[in-house]
Amino acid sequence: MTAALVLLTSSVRAEVLLSEDEIQQTLSFGPWPPSFQPDPSNRVSNDPRAIALGAALFDHPVLSIDGAFACASCHDPQQALTNSEARTFGRVILDRNTPSLRNLAGLRWYGWGGKSDNLWAASLHPIIEEQEMAHSKESLMRAISESTYIEDFEVIFGDVQSQDTEQVLVNIAKALSAYLETLVTERTQFDDFRDALERSDLAEAANYPEAAQRGLQLFLGRGNCAFCHNGPRFSNNEFHDAGVPYFLSETEVDDGRFGGLNFLLSSPYTLDGDWTDDPEKQGAWAVRNVRRSHSDFGTFRTPSLRGVAETAPYMHDGSLDDLDAVVRHYNEIDIERLHADGEAILSELNLSEQEIADLVEFLETLSGVTRP
Ligand code: HEC
Ligand code: HEC
Repeated sequence: MTAALVLLTSSVRAEVLLSEDEIQQTLSFGPWPPSFQPDPSNRVSNDPRAIALGAALFDHPVLSIDGAFACASCHDPQQALTNSEARTFGRVILDRNTPSLRNLAGLRWYGWGGKSDNLWAASLHPIIEEQEMAHSKESLMRAISESTYIEDFEVIFGDVQSQDTEQVLVNIAKALSAYLETLVTERTQFDDFRDALERSDLAEAANYPEAAQRGLQLFLGRGNCAFCHNGPRFSNNEFHDAGVPYFLSETEVDDGRFGGLNFLLSSPYTLDGDWTDDPEKQGAWAVRNVRRSHSDFGTFRTPSLRGVAETAPYMHDGSLDDLDAVVRHYNEIDIERLHADGEAILSELNLSEQEIADLVEFLETLSGVTRP
């Protein structure tokens, strides 16, 4: 056994393939996990009681009008807080793929179209949205008052009868948000590689598979993926047209960021609104200054690639079944189809079969899933 191991290590001379410049770029994808900053717009952010209440409510059908399903019915904790459907059936079939709810603390925009600028608003909308849980403020107040959660709610937020129905809705959303902030993807093989590079420990870094290193080189270089998928979350968290068709049916389109902005700009639940707990309204400059333009039509928020191997299918409509299909989509992208004007970032890549496999292997190392 020992002899075989020695043989193996001496016959395979693993090395670091990256140039100095590529190493520097690689460091920008970490460190991981990020440090946690409580959300100033949510006074129960990081409060253990609120986190516990949020976790319990997330799992419980009390948040849907007919008690038919919970947040967890779509965002299944057993399936990386998403599910394997392209588009989940709520009350009707939803227009978009269910995102995995991890690494959401501190983002500027939420949702595929960015209709929220904070996490408690993004947690509030599904409760009252007609297609999802369909509560009214009144029915929610009744349901929570009659539920076993009322004691915990009152310990955290005070007497329910002294609050109006909108206050109750916002408070529940803030407890959910406190819980969601705690959901972070684990460290990965990629993080070990990145940290070894930072320590200039090339022997340790060389344990990262060469195929994944070649994939990373494509990700940074010819693929231009890091133009949008950058930083520790592998997302600039901005909106782009990645060439995914945006027709919902023959006559209907998903307007993406355009509709998201319409929603955001008329929402009472923004960082600039009355429901933030931050007297300084930090972060509100974004919603105050953002403008709608025609080029927002059919653009979607760049998804994080952390944990991506666990969250198939992909894209805003769940139209691509696996990571191989995603890489082939970018490889063969039809630039005639790109609809957002002014952005010529994507173009056909002409990758070989080997290069496609390398890029997929790289993407897989961004998940904690142990590979055989
Ligand atoms: C019927 C399925 C379904 C249910 C139930 C549901 N969601 Fe979602 N969730 C989705 C879909 C689909 C999206 C993407 C919507 C969009 O961006 O247009 C989403 C988006 C989100 C987002 C934004 C994530 C991001 O990356 O920006 C948050 C936060 C969220 N849901 C939280 C919740 C909470 C909390 C509940 C329970 C109160 C809930 N969801 C219930 C399907 C569901
Ligand atoms: C112009 C910005 C941009 C570039 C460049 C880009 N992406 Fe994306 N990526 C996006 C956006 C936006 C989406 C979501 C598109 C949609 O759903 O319509 C996306 C989606 C994805 C997804 C699916 C994630 C999920 O959870 O559904 C993967 C995987 C991905 N990109 C990998 C890559 C790779 C690999 C490259 C390089 C070959 C790349 N991207 C280049 C912006 C970009």
